[in-house]
Amino acid sequence: MKLDNNIFVFALLIVHVNISMSFFKCGPDLKCSCTTRPPGTVAMDCKARNVKLRQVCESIAIIYPKVSDLNIARNNIGNFNPEDVNHCRNISSLNMNYNQISSLHNYVFVDFRNILTLDLSDNVLDIYNKTAFDPSVLPSSLRILKLYGNFREDNNLKESSAYPIFTNLRNLEKLQLDGVETDFGLEYEYSSVRNLSLSSKGPLGFCLIKDIFPTTFHSLINVRVLDISSCRIENIYRDAFKHMKSLEILDLSLNRRLGFSSLMNVSYSLQFTNIQFLNYSRVYTSFGVGTIILNSDICYLRNTSLKAIALDGNKVQMIEKNTYLLLPKHLETIYAQENKFSFGLYLFQFGCLEHVQHIDANNLNKVHAPIKYLAEPKPKNDNDRSWNSECPFMTEESLKNIAKDIPACTYVPPNETVADWKPQFSRSLKIVNFSGCNMVYNIDNTQITINPSNNSFEALDVSKNAFHCLSSRIGPFPNLKFLSLSRSYCSFINSDFLSMGKLENLQLDQNYLGGMFAHQGGRDTFEYLTNLQTLNISTNGITRLKKNIFNTLIMIEEIDLSSNNIEMFAVNVKPLKNLLHLNLRGNAIHTLNNDFRQLLEDNSERIGNNFTLDLRNNSIEYSCSNQKFLYWLLYHKKRLQGFNEMVFYRLNGSSVDSNAFLRDVPHLRAQCRSYTIAMVLSALGVLSAGAMITGVILYKKRWKLRYWYYMTKQNYFGYRRLLNDYEDENYRYDAFISYSDDDLHFIRGEIIPRLEDCGMKLCVHQRDFLPGIPIRDNIVDAIRTSKKTVVILSKTFVKTQWCIFEFNMARMESTDNRVCENGCLVIVHFENVPAKSMPLEILDWMDNHSYIMYTRDPDGQELFWESLATAIER
Ligand SMILES: *[C@@H]1O[C@H](CO)[C@@H](O)[C@H](O)[C@H]1NC(C)=O
Ligand SMILES: *[C@@H]1O[C@H](CO)[C@@H](O)[C@H](O)[C@H]1NC(C)=O
Ligand SMILES: *[C@@H]1O[C@H](CO)[C@@H](O)[C@H](O)[C@H]1NC(C)=O
Ligand SMILES: *[C@@H]1O[C@H](CO)[C@@H](O)[C@H](O)[C@H]1NC(C)=O
Ligand SMILES: *[C@@H]1O[C@H](CO)[C@@H](O)[C@H](O)[C@H]1NC(C)=O
Ligand SMILES: *[C@@H]1O[C@H](CO)[C@@H](O)[C@H](O)[C@H]1NC(C)=O
Ligand SMILES: *[C@@H]1O[C@H](CO)[C@@H](O)[C@H](O)[C@H]1NC(C)=O
Ligand SMILES: *[C@@H]1O[C@H](CO)[C@@H](O)[C@H](O)[C@H]1NC(C)=O
Repeated sequence: MKLDNNIFVFALLIVHVNISMSFFKCGPDLKCSCTTRPPGTVAMDCKARNVKLRQVCESIAIIYPKVSDLNIARNNIGNFNPEDVNHCRNISSLNMNYNQISSLHNYVFVDFRNILTLDLSDNVLDIYNKTAFDPSVLPSSLRILKLYGNFREDNNLKESSAYPIFTNLRNLEKLQLDGVETDFGLEYEYSSVRNLSLSSKGPLGFCLIKDIFPTTFHSLINVRVLDISSCRIENIYRDAFKHMKSLEILDLSLNRRLGFSSLMNVSYSLQFTNIQFLNYSRVYTSFGVGTIILNSDICYLRNTSLKAIALDGNKVQMIEKNTYLLLPKHLETIYAQENKFSFGLYLFQFGCLEHVQHIDANNLNKVHAPIKYLAEPKPKNDNDRSWNSECPFMTEESLKNIAKDIPACTYVPPNETVADWKPQFSRSLKIVNFSGCNMVYNIDNTQITINPSNNSFEALDVSKNAFHCLSSRIGPFPNLKFLSLSRSYCSFINSDFLSMGKLENLQLDQNYLGGMFAHQGGRDTFEYLTNLQTLNISTNGITRLKKNIFNTLIMIEEIDLSSNNIEMFAVNVKPLKNLLHLNLRGNAIHTLNNDFRQLLEDNSERIGNNFTLDLRNNSIEYSCSNQKFLYWLLYHKKRLQGFNEMVFYRLNGSSVDSNAFLRDVPHLRAQCRSYTIAMVLSALGVLSAGAMITGVILYKKRWKLRYWYYMTKQNYFGYRRLLNDYEDENYRYDAFISYSDDDLHFIRGEIIPRLEDCGMKLCVHQRDFLPGIPIRDNIVDAIRTSKKTVVILSKTFVKTQWCIFEFNMARMESTDNRVCENGCLVIVHFENVPAKSMPLEILDWMDNHSYIMYTRDPDGQELFWESLATAIER
């Protein structure tokens, strides 16, 4: 032995152990990995490291704390001698899976006093040949023994073959073997084995047992758990399990040619056992016609102690009526995933499942990969089986009797097909899962009532279906605590649907609710969820959240908003006195406000529990203006999920990783001092410049401001903006005439008669303004209620304050509020006004718009009246 080398390794080990108490390299050339386990022992993993058994065992001698578990699978180990495993004798678990061991030396396991688990699976031991394999060489302390994968399909089973007998292993509890077509010997009556697996499921070994005869398992009187899944079983005889009086769990799944035709014999057999759980899943191929469960198949189950049954992946399309009445009285759980249920009377009889608490029917109508079709055996169609069963429980009399004692259950007599009773659920039902069932529904205009109203539903998983719109009431669900609508293509959900006051956990992730939150606010979506503790609205394309969206969630502890596109988290957090965990990962957050930070700190302190915050994959701003938040993050870095992965961004776009952040943030305050001064100075500058600019703007916009003032006032008192299409019908006047009193003769003598005679209605202030109302309001009102405003521009008009006011108001109305194709303001150039006496606004307007010239010339007058009439009518 190269002692020096070992000491060196030893020293190295100590160093490693000190650095990391849980994980270190070990074994020959440090090829293996060791993990320390809580009570001071070590698990050594040498799987597929190309190591020799002897060297590994020798290295164990110097590892401290002592190695208790050794995995040396896949190292091409052949037969070995007692000396090879000398230093391994103290271990409690040895895994030698997938090596080349063909026989065991008589003394190899001598003095393995502590070993509990031995895995010799996938070797080449000739286990079923009594002369070649002597089970008595195995250590008697063993509790778990794995020997599957030693039989190859091409090994023909010899006449003399038999299951090996382990009666010397008095502590053996669990045994895994390959399943071959022979009976278990009488010696097994004395075996202590409780869990027996012959399955070839997954990576396990070989199993081919076509028929299960009454003799096959006759002597397994102590076995509690029998796994004969994936054993290519085709027939099971009536008394197959009759003698297994300890049997509690039977797994018959994945025997794809078994079908329901054997279920009657299985049911019969199980009456004599202590059965608790039967797995009868996938006893058909994945493709082919649907199947039906008949009363005769399960009739004898009524007389069993079954608590749970699994019928997954059996293409069940129909269940005979009254079948539920034959299920064992104390059945609590039904697994029925991956079937293809069709509508039938059985759906109305849910109430007959008196004690069933949990129904799992996920992935109904699941699509299977076509490649399976080639891999699976020929499909079995046993739907035409017609039993002449003697089972006493399925007589009409008996079924009626059973139904009589169950409150929500209705017995359906042989000839009755459609009854008008409502579907009822049993009051025991608590957990119902219908995830991924291709259900496509909107619940948006009819209420759905669940009977009975005092049902016990606690958890409902209907995720991975398609519910586009959920806006009317379903229920009541007075006890519902968990609801999952994940990945449901949902774009609308409201408080009517969510009126489930007891709900504690709501999963709405992976939907399309972002649009709803952004546009309509989703204001009271969560209104009634006053007991909600966990809300998941991750991956919903949310861009913003209304301030009061979470107002009523007073019990909320955790909100998951990850993978959305939120820039500002500015909701009102004051009522969220229990919020401790917020996930904002994968958004566009720059900062979080002080209210929110304070809330988390206060909640933590009051509740006595640390808050957590996930801010990974955001755009947190690394800048002086954000320094308070950055210091807060630094202080609470332990509360930040995945802090090491966090990235911060400077204003110039460059990024700061978490290490740089830890290094630089403490100096930020100093760096930002100059920034602060600059801020103060520039703020002062901005203030004075601001005052000036504001003054200028105020002056420039004075008309606009006045106009706004009047508009706001009118809006407040009920003015509604008129739509273009309805304008004509909605105007009180065709035109409001704006003129100076000096030109009254022109208005009285010509404008009014000429225009009103051809059917127009004019608004003229001396005639039409209402007394008792301020003149400004009268003007604005006249402009608003007239289709056009006609300005009679004269020398006195431009000098009259009220006239200028009218002009400006009309101008604003024309440009700001109303859509007039040809302008709502018509200017009549009544007399020549020198440009220098005209206000700028009027000059400017006339530069850009046409106006009508008044003339005293008779021919010209004709044209003038015509143009004016058209200008008003357009
Ligand atoms: C096995 O463990 C015992 C004490 O638990 C110890 O005395 C003995 O030396 C160990 N043997 C080996 C081979 O490590
Ligand atoms: C059983 O094993 C022995 C010894 O290895 C061998 O001689 C014998 O042929 C085997 N028997 C059968 C039936 O394979
Ligand atoms: C035997 O099977 C039962 C049920 O599956 C399980 O709870 C128990 O742990 C198993 N025993 C051993 C030793 O693995
Ligand atoms: C059921 O058991 C009876 C009697 O043991 C047997 O004759 C019959 O073939 C079995 N049926 C199936 C489908 O295995
Ligand atoms: C119910 O099962 C028991 C065995 O557990 C059996 O003795 C009894 O006859 C069965 N009852 C009926 C009505 O078949
Ligand atoms: C029933 O067996 C199937 C196939 O072996 C397995 O996938 C399923 O988990 C089992 N069901 C339960 C509830 O154990
Ligand atoms: C929210 O849903 C996602 C899957 O979309 C899941 O990973 C996450 O754990 C859920 N969060 C909570 C708080 O339940
Ligand atoms: C999240 O951030 C990590 C670390 O910066 C990065 O590796 C990852 O790609 C990001 N994920 C997404 C979805 O942006």
